[in-house]
Amino acid sequence: MIEISAAVLALTAAYANAFAPVPSQVTRSSVLSLAAGNTNPVDRTMKGIDDNLGYDAFDPTAGENPAVVRNNHGGVWVQQRARPRRNRKSAGVRAMVRENIVTPANFIYPLFIHDEDYCQDITSMPGCQRHSLPSMLNEVGEALELGVKAFVLFPKVDDALKTNLACEAYNPEGIVHRAIRMIKEKYPEAVVCTDVALDPYSDQGHDGVVENGVILNDVTVNQLCKQAVSQARAGADIVAPSDMQDGRVKAIRDALDSEGFTNVSILSYTAKYASAYYGPFRDALDSHPGFGDKKTYQQDPANGREALIEAALDAAEGADMLMVKPGMPYLDIIRRLKDYSDLPIAAYHVSGEYAMLKAAVEKGWLNEKDVVLETLTCFRRAGADIILTYYAKQAAKWIKEDGLY
Ligand code: PBG
Repeated sequence: MIEISAAVLALTAAYANAFAPVPSQVTRSSVLSLAAGNTNPVDRTMKGIDDNLGYDAFDPTAGENPAVVRNNHGGVWVQQRARPRRNRKSAGVRAMVRENIVTPANFIYPLFIHDEDYCQDITSMPGCQRHSLPSMLNEVGEALELGVKAFVLFPKVDDALKTNLACEAYNPEGIVHRAIRMIKEKYPEAVVCTDVALDPYSDQGHDGVVENGVILNDVTVNQLCKQAVSQARAGADIVAPSDMQDGRVKAIRDALDSEGFTNVSILSYTAKYASAYYGPFRDALDSHPGFGDKKTYQQDPANGREALIEAALDAAEGADMLMVKPGMPYLDIIRRLKDYSDLPIAAYHVSGEYAMLKAAVEKGWLNEKDVVLETLTCFRRAGADIILTYYAKQAAKWIKEDGLY
């Protein structure tokens, strides 16, 4: 009797322990062995393990059509020859079979600039700033050190300089033009990209010239040609029209070529959607549309095939690279453009995507480094050769630290 009750007590205690929360006085070594996944060896025959359950558990090795059989040593065996887990079994093997990697050379780093002698934090984009020109130059230098080679400039323009025709966009002494010259002078190896669009300079908050609530296509393209040529004169390596007017790539190509800038590339915002994900960017530039929205020129998020029409036109008009924007919710469009065209494909990981990640990270809900490197790798897998991301410098640092390439 005494023996039985002792055994029952011991069993009950063991059972209770198995479900008890980890006691606070756990030793360091037991924590370490847990972390290393150390357990007692598992009996591969798995015989008798359910004997004391007190109910009948299903036995996959029993019956006429067993789901699991036994190997030469009596161990349970799923008769499966192709085991994809073999190619994942160690870091070395995983690295050997990895299909896509992301490197700092894949990035274009967007930088916000303003004509002040201080930097200003952007509330909806934690970690990003409107840079003074000296601070921008410093940021470019640091990013270059980390292997980021390309930059795109976005100006916050004083309200007093904004007009409907947005003539400040092609002022050779404008902030973007001065910034380009500063960067090319100090870092001639840097690849400087510029945004070709009127919104930072428009008192209407639109990417084009407005008449009676309508964004005028051809008048806007006329202005964009002047903007692109002025940026090329300042030293831009790549101009990136983000305005979504029809025929702008051809007109800009012809304008550049006729002025002798046959070497200046066009990175076209080919499939740029009328997206709510641009909100924080518009905070950064103070460039929210003055009225309405951008749906008469930017694409409808519901449409995929339409992106192929834009891609065909941009390629025919002389674009060197095609961009999809935003990124994460539009990975299918990146893939469709990649399959459709042999031109390099860029993806813009936009401000709203950055803000979402930052917000979850600040709450402690996501691990920043892991989620960012995963996200950027997924852009590559989807087909992006180039990624525009506000994480460029930080990601380059992580990639370097971890020796990921
Ligand atoms: C404007 C422009 C926008 C972005 C890049 N260029 C905003 C818009 O179209 O309203 C958005 C970038 C981002 O959200 O990170 N021509």
